[in-house]
Amino acid sequence: MYSELVLDHFMNPRNVGVIEDADAIVQVGDPKCGDSLLLFLKVDNNIVNDAKFRRKGCPASIATASMTTEMVKGLTLEEALALTDEQVAEALGGLPEEKIHCSSLTVGAVHAGILRYLSPPVEGDSGDVGH
Ligand code: FES
Repeated sequence: MYSELVLDHFMNPRNVGVIEDADAIVQVGDPKCGDSLLLFLKVDNNIVNDAKFRRKGCPASIATASMTTEMVKGLTLEEALALTDEQVAEALGGLPEEKIHCSSLTVGAVHAGILRYLSPPVEGDSGDVGH
């Protein structure tokens, strides 16, 4: 069902953790499956310098969070905003059709984090982003 790369990123996820001085923190969740993701981004000079995550969810969701954080590091903000869930799924050697939404959740969090960095929320915003 899963490619070897998906299983590798699930068993040995990269970039798990928090960034204490993150420039953007985003929490997203999928109410349908109950999975959730907390994403931290560190930005320097218009480049995503670091990305870390904490995630509760299915193997595909852990693997896509791992791969996505690997892929965005070193990208300009514009390049990271252009990243698609199809590119993440492709980099993982493909995902089963019913698991595509797992990568959408992660990539959506990256986009939301960058947009938040570019235009910080006004006071009173909970910081949560729906899915
Ligand atoms: Fe919901 Fe994977 S089943 S993110």
